This record gives sequence, structure tokens and C-alpha cells, in this order.
Amino acid sequence: MEFLIPSHQQRPADDPIFALNAEANARKKRGEAVINATVGDLLADDGTLAVLPTVAEALRDVPALQAASYAPLAGPAAFHAAVIGELFGDHPLGAQAIAVATPGGTGALRLALANFLEPGQALLTSSFYWGPYKTLADESDRKLVTFRTFVLDEAGRPGGLDVAAFESTLESTLEKQGRALIFLNDPCQNPTGYSMSDAEWGALVSAIERLAPRGPVTLLVDVAYYLYGSGDPRAFLRHLEPLLGKVALAFAWSGSKSYTEYGARIGALLVCDPDENRRKRTFDALSFSCRGTWSNCNHAGMLAVTRVLSDPALRAKVDEERAGLKRLLDGRVRAFNAAAAGTSLVFPRYAGGFFSTVFVPAGKRVAEVAARLREEGIFVVPQGDGLRVALCSVAERDVPRLVQAMDRALGA
Ligand SMILES: Cc1ncc(COP(=O)(O)O)c(C=O)c1O
Repeated sequence: MEFLIPSHQQRPADDPIFALNAEANARKKRGEAVINATVGDLLADDGTLAVLPTVAEALRDVPALQAASYAPLAGPAAFHAAVIGELFGDHPLGAQAIAVATPGGTGALRLALANFLEPGQALLTSSFYWGPYKTLADESDRKLVTFRTFVLDEAGRPGGLDVAAFESTLESTLEKQGRALIFLNDPCQNPTGYSMSDAEWGALVSAIERLAPRGPVTLLVDVAYYLYGSGDPRAFLRHLEPLLGKVALAFAWSGSKSYTEYGARIGALLVCDPDENRRKRTFDALSFSCRGTWSNCNHAGMLAVTRVLSDPALRAKVDEERAGLKRLLDGRVRAFNAAAAGTSLVFPRYAGGFFSTVFVPAGKRVAEVAARLREEGIFVVPQGDGLRVALCSVAERDVPRLVQAMDRALGA
């Protein structure tokens, strides 16, 4: 007799990325010259996890009794204030925001799916997306629809964001289900590394504004990597202003990359709304969801980040340490762009962040190209029509070998 419900009987235990990472590490252990560009943790050039020492220290300094105690269901109020302050800075949207604590940005995405979509309805995101969006949708009995991410030229080279495709898919989604929840991961999108331009933000927001009267729309910006982009990380906020009050403006905030505490599971879902009553109802519903899913989050992690963000000296120190990590990453991005120039590699504009995705031309099988690379000890993630390259885990000195191997595998 099978005890699992039928729809759960064939579920894979392993995320494919974690499985590839395990194989890469096993081969490295056997002495092979492996380049492991699979996992989205920022590693130092010696292959160890790059951490912000001041955050690690703040975590160690949390008093044992406080760390051991339950956090409030939606997280401590000081944590809410700290995260709202971090994301919005001086921007007035911060005054209209509520936050609830979640286990990482993943928890924030989970809460958004459960509260802004009915069961059976589809989340809308770009055709290149972080795989767990689909897992999260499946797990909460929601679906996922995509719009074509990039405009392509005749040779299949990606240009900018396909805003027209976004608008028509949003329109059909609203027509079909009467409401929409959009996940946009920007800047430094996982998996493409793309960051939207000001003009693209403007066009996208105008499209949403045009369609918002047709039904409740929630725009969730997944800001997991926003402190690693090029330029002012909060510049995109001004583009969102026209949407305030017309759509639910939500943000999945994560402490994993920004504070290099992946395992502490620090995150938050933030929602901006100028209507005080609606804002309160949203906070209440999200708090209820917290209780009904994970009850409450890692108290020590939230206390540590709150302290780091509330103490100006500590915060400045962490910002400086992160700037060092960003320089490390930017060096790899530059090395990748330089090595790839003049090769067969086709990939979207890549100005910063943890990943890039190299397109695999029609006529070639993505899985076969990835397998050929693995024979050479190069591990990347086959995803859709591309290969995701996690430069966050590749030393700058290995980038030329990685690019040359990809060029050969794609040309073969
Ligand atoms: C696009 C994206 N969103 C959200 C997350 C959330 O990460 P976490 O749950 O560790 O905060 C990740 C992590 O890899 C990610 O790549």
C-alpha cells in the first residue's frame, strides 16, 4: 500500500543543483582539477565560504538565553524596523511598509504565494527563473506561467527585457484568473545575471499600471542579490512609486547573501500599502501564515542582524566588508566578460552578481553540453535553454579555463 497522496509519490528528494554540487565535490576530493560553478554561495578564491566577519561575530554574541527563546510569530518589531530601514533607506515607501519575518527569502516567497494567489492560480515570472519558484508553487498548490525574458535578435542573441511579452502575459493571466502575483528577481537575476535598466523598469511599471485596474495585482521584487549589483542598490525604488496603492508592492528580503548567513535563515516579506487598514489586514494575514507554516523564525539570526543594522559603527563595518566581497565578485565578472569576448558564448548583459547564463543554441542539447563539460571537470547547471554559471563560486584565476571549455563544448 502507498501511504503518500498520489500527487506526492514521485517527488525528487534532491534539488538538481545540490546533486551536481555533491558530484563536483566528490571528484575534487579525489584530486581532480574541478571547477564547480553550480552552487549560489559566494566562495573566496580558496574555495571556502566568504563570510562577513562582523555579522558572524554578532551572531556569536547573541546572549544564549535570548537565542534560545521563541521569537514573536512575525518576528521582533525591532527586526521589522531594521529590515524596512535597510531596504528603503530614506525612500518614502519605507513609511508605508510592513514586514514579517520569514525563514530566508524563500519563506517570503512562500508567504506571498499563499496570501496573494488562490490555490490553483498561477504565479507569473520570467522564462528564466530561479528553479525553486516552481517548487514553491507546486508545494503550495499553485502554478507558474512565464513570459519570454529577453528580446532576441535574428541570431538568437538576447537584447533587453521583453516588456511587451511581460505585458501580454500579465493581461492574459488577469483575464484568466482575475488576479496576478508577479515575481521579479532584480538586480543580478538568478540565473541570468541580468539587471534591468531604468528604461526597462519604467516600461514595466507603466505596463502594470495600465493593467492594474483589471484585478488585484501583487508585484513582488525578489531582492536576494540587490546589495551586489552595480550602482545605487535602491535606485529602482523610485520607479515603483506610481504603483503605490494601485498594486500590492511586495519585497522578498533575504539575509543569506546580504549578510552571508545562509544557514541562519534570516528573511522577511515586506509589503507597502498607503491604506492603513489594508496594511494591518495584510500584516495580520501574513502573521497567521507564519504560525500556520513554521510558527516563528530563528531568533538568534534576527537579533544579530537587528544589532548590526541598528548600530551605525557595526553597520558601516559590515558595509565595508561586503564591499570587499563585491570587489571579489566584480573581478570575476570582468574576467568572464573579457574571456568570453570573441568566443561563441552568448549571454545577457552581465554587469554584476552571482550568476550568468550562457545560451545553448537550438540544435544542441543542453544536457549533452553540460555532460561534456563535466567530463572535463567543469560543473555548470543545465537550465531551460542555457547553462547557469555560478561565478560566485569560481576563483578569478579559473574563469578563463571555464570560458574556454564552454566555448569548446558549445562549438563541438
Ligand atoms: C533568486 C533567489 N531568491 C531568493 C533566494 C532565497 O534565499 P534564502 O531563502 O536563502 O534567503 C535565493 C537563494 O538562492 C535566490 O537565488
